[in-house]
Amino acid sequence: MKILSTTALAMGAIGLPGAAAWGSLGHMTTAYLASHLVSNTTEAFFQELLGSTAPDYLATIAPWADSIRYTDWGRFSKNFHFIDAHDTPPTDCSVDYERDCKDGGCVINALANYTKQSLDSELPLWQREQAAKFVVHFIGDMHQPLHNENTALGGNRIYVHFDGHQFNLHHVWDSSIMEKFLGGLHGAPLSIAEKWSGELAIAITEGKFAAEKDSWLKDVNLDDPISSALAWSRETNALVCKYVFPEGPEAIKGKEVGGEYAEKAGPVIEKQIARAGYRMAAWLDRIVDAYQAEDKISGEL
Ligand SMILES: *[C@@H]1O[C@H](CO)[C@@H](O)[C@H](O)[C@H]1NC(C)=O
Ligand SMILES: *[C@@H]1O[C@H](CO)[C@@H](O)[C@H](O)[C@H]1NC(C)=O
Repeated sequence: MKILSTTALAMGAIGLPGAAAWGSLGHMTTAYLASHLVSNTTEAFFQELLGSTAPDYLATIAPWADSIRYTDWGRFSKNFHFIDAHDTPPTDCSVDYERDCKDGGCVINALANYTKQSLDSELPLWQREQAAKFVVHFIGDMHQPLHNENTALGGNRIYVHFDGHQFNLHHVWDSSIMEKFLGGLHGAPLSIAEKWSGELAIAITEGKFAAEKDSWLKDVNLDDPISSALAWSRETNALVCKYVFPEGPEAIKGKEVGGEYAEKAGPVIEKQIARAGYRMAAWLDRIVDAYQAEDKISGEL
């Protein structure tokens, strides 16, 4: 764990207009947070693999997987960002790997797949680099509740109002709630992510999340990535019953959710970003350990 600079402590309101989504702000913040928390060895390893020694070496690649999923080349990966839990919120929330993971893949086996590739020293560098970018993205995705839910295509087909504007519920959970929680978005997503991740890193190391952070790692097991990912997915899916559809999917249709609903959801999203970043750091540390154990002789990329 690296010592955080004191400038990270002096962070005020974050704030500005933006079309920043989980697609960018959520992913960048999660990855930035992980970069505050990884070991020095891990930092050096991924900086070399990703070809950047800048502090935002993880944050800048975090949204990449979204940028390719609708291209001809990247279409194979479009189902890797979620798992469609066929449960019945709010009475039953559950993720069943056999039932819910599509034949073409889902976020659970995609994370396992690319984790394995990222530490396979027999693969060419470009392939390990690409795998690392998928890993960073998918750990973020699986911490968004509606990426672990089948109902209405993960909320994409449910329209609600947020402070008077109409959005689908998936978008609300990707970005609207987060933006409101931060008091509006003032600045570029990357600089907001830098500031917010600094605050979260302090909350984790010595603030409100310090006492529970160890419990966040109880399912981290690189030898069984499917079980690890499934545990995170189940934990996140449980939030669908409690915070996304507390009165069921029908009840929320057409409702204004910018008030009390968003007030309850904001801290949930904050904690999901914190968990995701903390777990990502642990996961990347373990990838480097495993790579180096496998590749002891050279110990290089
Ligand atoms: C890691 O790097 C930081 C700053 O670059 C340094 O202060 C710290 O001593 C290093 N930690 C270890 C264990 O080498
Ligand atoms: C695993 O990775 C390979 C190489 O990118 C890809 O072709 C395959 O679709 C991936 N499968 C899953 C489930 O991620």
